[in-house]
Amino acid sequence: MGKATVLVTGGAGYVGSHAALALQEAGYPLVLLDNLTRGNHNLVRGVIDAPLIVGDIADRALTARLFKEYPIETVLHFAAFAYVGESVEDPGRYYRNNVAGTLALIESMAAAGVRHIVFSSTCATYGMPEVLPITEELPLCPINPYGRSKRMVEQILEDFGAAHGLGYVALRYFNAAGADPEGRLGELHHPETHLIPLVLQTALGQCESVRIFGEDYDTPDGTCIRDYVHVSDLAAAHVAALEYLRAGGASGAFNLGMGHGYSVREVIETCEAVTARPVRVVAAPRRPGDPPRLTADCGKAKRVLGWTPQFVELDTVVRHAWRFLAARQG
Ligand code: UFG
Repeated sequence: MGKATVLVTGGAGYVGSHAALALQEAGYPLVLLDNLTRGNHNLVRGVIDAPLIVGDIADRALTARLFKEYPIETVLHFAAFAYVGESVEDPGRYYRNNVAGTLALIESMAAAGVRHIVFSSTCATYGMPEVLPITEELPLCPINPYGRSKRMVEQILEDFGAAHGLGYVALRYFNAAGADPEGRLGELHHPETHLIPLVLQTALGQCESVRIFGEDYDTPDGTCIRDYVHVSDLAAAHVAALEYLRAGGASGAFNLGMGHGYSVREVIETCEAVTARPVRVVAAPRRPGDPPRLTADCGKAKRVLGWTPQFVELDTVVRHAWRFLAARQG
């Protein structure tokens, strides 16, 4: 099968750029679409050899033109807002961009006969699960507008699949972390809210201290446990999902995690060991909406997509994140 062009929305963002690099290395011609609200052109410049169209997924005339201009068969759809706290404060922004924007994109795909979409979903669709590790069969009970916006899109995809034959894979990421092992790409969020980059920025002296949001959870050391999946493993899963759809695979949702969890304290200790620098921590109240534990059962992605994560040690994830951040520090 020849390699048709792939449209990567949010291609100048954190996970989107890593997936674009993996696709490029697999020989796929690419077009990146990013409105640069959260994406960063400097991140991909010189790394991804593809046109970067600066525009919005909600711009139907633009996406119609792209579908006409390029032989696009699959869309990898990353473009979205992804901060839980912000979604609680400004839900309209999340429903407008993540849901209405995606609906416009999918309708444009259907009108142009674009057959496949790989969608960035999230473990936030599960809410506060009672059973761990989380399998795809658990009910989806998101507890914030961000998680709800992603669940809504999964439902829209299901309906478009039934009505128009759109093939989709929804990839439910756990905590995306790390950076390209060769240091070509990494995490550059503004504002940054994620634990690992904040701890590393503190090690670099860019922040004074790291707050630990809650030390009284029902976990061994009292801090929250998360499943930190390497961003290059996420990228590889997107290539696998795209090839699965092109080979006629059935639509569905798949968890992507490392498969085991680490506490906030363990993350901080690992960052101190990797950087060989002490990190000042301060206790802070629980952050509203944080489940105590989230760990993934990734059996389905391994079995059905043939996905094998390469970086399954927190130490490696942190080392790659550190290499990228420290190099940019100059
Ligand atoms: N944390 C701190 N201090 C900080 C930042 C985070 O203690 O300064 C803690 C959080 O409370 C949490 C853990 O570190 O227990 C990880 O927090 P992140 O903000 O890095 O990531 P989240 O688990 O909140 O978010 C991730 C994804 C979201 C997704 C969510 C689902 O980034 O997109 O999981 O719960 F919605």
